[in-house]
Amino acid sequence: MAYQDIYARSLADPEAFWMEQAERIDWVRKPSKALFDDKAPLYEWYSDGLVNTCWNAVDRHVEAGRGAQAAIIHDSPVTGTKHRISYAQLRSRVARLAGALRARGVEKGDRVVIYMPMVPEALEAMLACTRIGAVHSVVFGGFAAHELAVRIDDCRPKAIIAASCGIEPGRVVHYKPLIDGAIEQATHKPDFCVIFQREEEVAQLVEGRDVDWHACQYGVEPANCIPVEGNHPVYILYTSGTTGSPKGVVRHTAGHLVALHWSMKNIYNVDPGEVFWAASDVGWVVGHSYICYGPLVHGNTTVVFEGKPVGTPDAGTFWRVISEHDVRSFFTAPTAMRAIKREDPEAKELQRYDISNLRALYLAGERADPDTINWAARVMGVPVFDHWWQTETGWAIAGNPTGIEALPVKVGSPTVAMPGYDVRILDEAGQEQPPGTLGAIAIKLPLPPGTLPTLWNAEGRFHKSYLDTFPGYYETGDAGMQDEDGYLWIMARTDDVINVAGHRLSTGAMEEVIANHPDVAECAVIGVSDTLKGQAPVGFVCLTKGVDRPHAEITAECVRLVRDQIGPVAAFKLAVVVDRLPKTRSGKILRGIMVKVADGEDVKTPATIDDPAILDEIKSALQTIGLGK
Ligand code: COA
Ligand code: AMP
Repeated sequence: MAYQDIYARSLADPEAFWMEQAERIDWVRKPSKALFDDKAPLYEWYSDGLVNTCWNAVDRHVEAGRGAQAAIIHDSPVTGTKHRISYAQLRSRVARLAGALRARGVEKGDRVVIYMPMVPEALEAMLACTRIGAVHSVVFGGFAAHELAVRIDDCRPKAIIAASCGIEPGRVVHYKPLIDGAIEQATHKPDFCVIFQREEEVAQLVEGRDVDWHACQYGVEPANCIPVEGNHPVYILYTSGTTGSPKGVVRHTAGHLVALHWSMKNIYNVDPGEVFWAASDVGWVVGHSYICYGPLVHGNTTVVFEGKPVGTPDAGTFWRVISEHDVRSFFTAPTAMRAIKREDPEAKELQRYDISNLRALYLAGERADPDTINWAARVMGVPVFDHWWQTETGWAIAGNPTGIEALPVKVGSPTVAMPGYDVRILDEAGQEQPPGTLGAIAIKLPLPPGTLPTLWNAEGRFHKSYLDTFPGYYETGDAGMQDEDGYLWIMARTDDVINVAGHRLSTGAMEEVIANHPDVAECAVIGVSDTLKGQAPVGFVCLTKGVDRPHAEITAECVRLVRDQIGPVAAFKLAVVVDRLPKTRSGKILRGIMVKVADGEDVKTPATIDDPAILDEIKSALQTIGLGK
């Protein structure tokens, strides 16, 4: 069947379509139906089925004869190590860890925070939780103690599983002091922490609270997979919104399994047994869906890569990994490709490796600029497929369904809507827009399986953030259009979320931190265009009356504050002091105009601005830090 027929059927008869897809996973008890709409506009999928994620990702492959196949290949140029874990080994490692968690009181529904770098143990920790029905919440290692504390207080974990350290080029990231600091700051205290001691740094354990990863598994009974309801949360993943408090995206078990399984062949075009590599981090949704669950549920081998596209040790690392591990399908963020292109524009490093088994490159996480796509296609000699999705959706909203049929690529478009996503372009009043017209991108409810059913402990915020603006639709927060052929074009965010090196960040959160500086009266953070990272945050600060300290000192303190409070991942390096911020007469900061000025675009002074002269002041301030024109 061609894509068009499959897509049309998914919308015309979602019940039949998704019940059919559900056949691809193992159930303890099959669901009586696919869609549960009795609480609309809140929807659930397969709620009354009984299923287990870890069984589907690990055990069933061993049962089916894949025990000797590599489940995980760990390739870590930052530690100079490589190793493989077979499905059979993975099963016993995960069952033992799950047994240790259970022995210490972790039960179905309990939350477990995971704070780990790119080591297989991160995936094992996730799988061990799902094995016993515990709900994990992975926190990205680049976040600081405060962000970790906020997440601990929101999801109230019974346990934290962490590594002693992470390794960034040139430095060891000491995780343990961050965890200790976060637990101290948080109101909620976990019962215990499991610490995976890495050779690169052995952390000191807190007596009575911390247990060693290996020691706590000694003598425990390995745990079997516990059947959970289809709508049991498999994980919570926090993501940036408009304000400083992150949104806890909830994922339900069954829809997650069904959707990810569908995507592996139909979008990424791999068959079970083949090697799939997503160069991201387990702390992001790409890591959840396509380093851990998607490839494993589908019986693929997944690569856990601990390194960077450049500098570990060179711009040929990605090509080496692809060739050495026989990667068939490769997924990364455009930033990573831009980093390689900048360092090795002629891709000379590629001559050292044979990547002829690779079928395609998939890009997502931020806008893929045509230059990068064309360059990658040229040097790699494979098709490059942009696809568009979000933490909230868990899998692609739009992509090129290459496992069904490869649709013609239009460079700059992530191609077409995937099954179950009824994508519409709306104007501010919620009116549908004709092809070629820019508007808010919304998805007619219900969203397909695998997408978020709600936010953790925040149903009101779920309604407000996603459902209230356009009743009957999910608001994506992205603006764009759809052309005559149904191809989508993603242009910009409609909120204060920015995307730095494929990392989703909130300018609002950075503003909240800077506003706490005693000398700062008011501030604004915007995302300006950056040739490597896509966007970079820039802060504008207005000082409290009477403050006459050197501006450079104050801005350096603001930079430090953001790094200490949010973390290095914020990549907040530029701030400038200004007398005033451009505002509307009603006092709203005109951030959009500031972005245009910083990007050197010609700006038409908006009629609503309270004092047009401020734009010139902003221009000169930006020139002092090398921005604007
Ligand atoms: N733990 C601790 N610190 C981390 C971290 C982690 N897991 N990940 C990043 N950081 C730190 C970096 O060391 C850097 O610190 P610095 O300010 O001391 O240099 C800071 O956070 C900013 O990181 P980043 O924006 O990633 O910049 P970079 O210069 O280290 O690397 C790229 C640039 C392009 C090579 C890198 O961003 C990259 O590989 N991007 C791909 C993005 C990606 O995979 N995104 C996932 C979504 S699909
Ligand atoms: P995250 O939740 O971190 O995956 O970020 C999701 C956001 O990243 C989306 O809402 C978009 O703004 C942006 N994004 C992701 N993929 C793409 C893409 N292929 N093209 C344009 N923007 C993208």
